[in-house]
Amino acid sequence: MDKKKYLVTGGAGFIGSNIAFELQKQGHEVTIMDDFSASNFKNLLGFKGDVIAADIFKFMPEDVYFDAIFHEAAITDTTVHDQKRMMEINVEAFKNVLCFAAANEIKRVVYASSAGTYGQNPCPMTESQTPMPENIYGFSKAVMDNVARDFAADHRDMVIVGLRYFNVYGPGEYYKGHIASMMYQLYNQMSSGKRPRIFKMGEQMRDFVYIKDIVKANMCALAAKESCVVNAASGKARSYNDVIALLNKNMGLKLEPEYIDNPYPFFQLKTEADLTLAKEKTGYAPDYTLEKGIAEYVEVLNKRK
Ligand SMILES: NC(=O)c1ccc[n+]([C@@H]2O[C@H](COP(=O)([O-])OP(=O)(O)OC[C@H]3O[C@@H](n4cnc5c(N)ncnc54)[C@H](O)[C@@H]3O)[C@@H](O)[C@H]2O)c1
Repeated sequence: MDKKKYLVTGGAGFIGSNIAFELQKQGHEVTIMDDFSASNFKNLLGFKGDVIAADIFKFMPEDVYFDAIFHEAAITDTTVHDQKRMMEINVEAFKNVLCFAAANEIKRVVYASSAGTYGQNPCPMTESQTPMPENIYGFSKAVMDNVARDFAADHRDMVIVGLRYFNVYGPGEYYKGHIASMMYQLYNQMSSGKRPRIFKMGEQMRDFVYIKDIVKANMCALAAKESCVVNAASGKARSYNDVIALLNKNMGLKLEPEYIDNPYPFFQLKTEADLTLAKEKTGYAPDYTLEKGIAEYVEVLNKRK
């Protein structure tokens, strides 16, 4: 395979670092840009490329070529209510990235959108549904999709692929604090002997997707022939009770859930992706069921203890 040059924004974060390591493993030259506002250098131990510490809202490098950009940098805390800041970092900075790509003849940009764009749309969630975001985070991602569509229409020589990630979990999310996946938070509670705490009555369902499938979706996006926005998910909704049952099984425990009141008015009851378009446009199909993902993740987490 030809050695290529890639830029990963937000590359010190959870998903960005996993993408960067996969590209490095494939023998490519990888540069990371991150302002370290929500990450830790420990995610990058073993990374062999350059790391530019910069706020992408304020700075993009000049006169550099990359074969593609993976744009992961964002405010990812869905409970942040500072609307201006959310829009600046998620939308305005994305415009900077697109303009930087166009100015430097970079023909492919793959960026992180979100299932948060769907809100309470019915399942399975398809890309043709009208976005109904329920918070400023989901709104910012929906605007990113609009910006990408219009930019692609004005730059026909570019391929811009938006990936609507659903609930991602797996190694590398250790520095996300209260917004880390439920798998990680519940694992930590349970491994310290506490009963797992979830919202009543644990039957809310999510399309939980293992990080290796998200990395796969990004690699598949390199093959897309035209600009598009597609789902990146497992394609199967599962309940929080299922997650606890699988954690118990893989951790050798029998801890009963402790059900607590849900304080969030905008909490989605169910998310599940339709993956038809993702398959058609990028060839993506997931490799991980919840059973396989949790089994692999628990093994990794047990080794970290
Ligand atoms: N994790 C999920 O379940 C999920 C679901 C849907 C969408 N997404 C999207 O995927 C992308 C990656 O998410 P993640 O889970 O890895 O989150 P993360 O918070 O671990 O990573 C985001 C990274 O962006 C960096 N960053 C933030 N603002 C920046 C700025 N102005 N300039 C430069 N760097 C900046 C942070 O320091 C961090 O390293 C985000 O765009 C997020 O919105 C994630």
